[in-house]
Amino acid sequence: MAVVKRWPILIIVSMMFFISCIYYSKFESEFVTDLHNISTASEGPATELSGKATIQKSQDAAFPAISYVNATFFIEVSGKPDLSYRQKCAVEAAATAHSNYPVIVYMTGFNGTRSPWTKPFKNMEIRTLNLDELFLNTHLEKVYTAKGFREKPVIEHVADLSRIALLKKHGGLYLDIDMILMKSALVFESFILKNQGNGVLRLNETSPLLAKFYEKLGDVAYKRGDYTLLGSKIIRQAVKEMCHLNNTAANFKTAAELCHINFVDDKVFEPVAWFEFKKLFSKDVDLSKFRSNIMKKAVAFHFAGHVTNNIPVFKNSSSLFNEIAKKYCPIMFRNFPSKY
Ligand SMILES: *[C@@H]1O[C@H](CO)[C@@H](O)[C@H](O)[C@H]1NC(C)=O
Ligand SMILES: *[C@@H]1O[C@H](CO)[C@@H](O)[C@H](O)[C@H]1NC(C)=O
Ligand SMILES: *[C@@H]1O[C@H](CO)[C@@H](O)[C@H](O)[C@H]1NC(C)=O
Ligand SMILES: *[C@@H]1O[C@H](CO)[C@@H](O)[C@H](O)[C@H]1NC(C)=O
Ligand SMILES: *[C@@H]1O[C@H](CO)[C@@H](O)[C@H](O)[C@H]1NC(C)=O
Ligand SMILES: *[C@@H]1O[C@H](CO)[C@@H](O)[C@H](O)[C@H]1NC(C)=O
Repeated sequence: MAVVKRWPILIIVSMMFFISCIYYSKFESEFVTDLHNISTASEGPATELSGKATIQKSQDAAFPAISYVNATFFIEVSGKPDLSYRQKCAVEAAATAHSNYPVIVYMTGFNGTRSPWTKPFKNMEIRTLNLDELFLNTHLEKVYTAKGFREKPVIEHVADLSRIALLKKHGGLYLDIDMILMKSALVFESFILKNQGNGVLRLNETSPLLAKFYEKLGDVAYKRGDYTLLGSKIIRQAVKEMCHLNNTAANFKTAAELCHINFVDDKVFEPVAWFEFKKLFSKDVDLSKFRSNIMKKAVAFHFAGHVTNNIPVFKNSSSLFNEIAKKYCPIMFRNFPSKY
């Protein structure tokens, strides 16, 4: 019985793999610029920003009246007091690419004392993320207080919920903290990813689409371990509902575009397919294909921490990841240990 039950899962996983292969091979030809040809130019006029750490005592204090239109934010909800080397790399890259605008890192484990590594990044701010304050007495409270959500938190679920709640507070560009910006992402006005993932979202707080995400999210019947429930499922449903789309029509994206949702191709932020990530960390594979095909339109390099965190990178290696780190987070890179 148990064996029989696994078949549908196997079939679905295999199908996903093949669909992904087709998807990525289709786009590969478009990405023909050498890695070293990606500009690191930053954007926009200088603005005054406080680089100081702040401990937030109330919601009002947590969301001061600065413009978040061009702000970038990350979240880290594992409770760790500090970021990993690779996460620091992501933060430096964003603080550099968006050097004239705020870059905010929300951490549940931040104790209010900034570590020395943050010094060079004047436009970067770390804030303590208090989940009770963020969710209690809001529309998301039902999910937050669902059985098991807080008692045995699943990081992905907490992160899914937090990014939408924070967007609702102040808008801005949300980026997963395993995303290394190679140039400014602010060239894209409010958008979501074409495949309706939630790893990158740029919406302002008054966006009707965001309001729909928020509404749907609060109404969810929470199910622990369902990793799409609070992410792509919500987004897909919201898009469908907002655009009055019928079902999984092949013209889903076109129809949604007609109802004025801006989609950005996933390849812009994830130029390399998830099933090839591991190669990027190894110096033993021929990386010329990646180097030559990466990535005319790419703005960021998503390294999928959940897949790659336990693959060590040697600082002296010529793996693609190491080269990207060296180039886009040079300050952090200098302080990385020989294996990180
Ligand atoms: C980038 O590529 C373009 C066209 O492929 C080329 O003209 C330009 O010189 C390159 N720039 C750098 C810095 O390599
Ligand atoms: C946001 O960035 C864009 C692009 O760099 C710029 O044109 C715009 O003026 C900026 N808006 C604010 C409020 O800084
Ligand atoms: C706060 O966390 C940092 C690590 O980011 C640690 O070095 C420091 O000792 C902590 N300070 C206090 C007061 O716990
Ligand atoms: C927020 O987004 C809406 C729709 O995308 C737009 O009409 C509005 O001007 C934006 N507001 C700000 C402050 O950018
Ligand atoms: C969806 O279906 C309804 C009725 O079945 C129809 O009236 C409507 O035009 C359809 N919408 C689209 C976008 O196809
Ligand atoms: C790279 O560094 C590791 C350990 O730090 C060392 O074992 C290895 O021999 C080095 N490789 C090269 C090519 O220098």
